[in-house]
Amino acid sequence: MPKITVVGQSGDTREIEATVGTTLMEAIRDNGFDEMLALCGGCCSCATCHVFVDAAYADKLPPVSADEDDLLDSSDERNATSRLSCQLPITDDLDGLTVTIAPEG
Ligand code: FES
Repeated sequence: MPKITVVGQSGDTREIEATVGTTLMEAIRDNGFDEMLALCGGCCSCATCHVFVDAAYADKLPPVSADEDDLLDSSDERNATSRLSCQLPITDDLDGLTVTIAPEG
């Protein structure tokens, strides 16, 4: 199982083991990071699963879809490393990734 380091909104950092075939949102939420609201349940319609992804892993992730891009634009916190974690499937390639849960906004 790939190991992923998650940085919470308060700076708390923990390494989690993610299951291939789930999404990054599910892995973060299911490991007790309550600030991962994921209100739409992964339907790409809420943007409450916003994370910042280590840029070194950008080419291991699927491209940003038009819907994801529109939703990310609604966040004041968007930057070049922003993704919606529900749109990111866990693969073995993500082993060693560090991901930061974005502030609300
Ligand atoms: S959980 Fe709603 S957009 Fe990701």
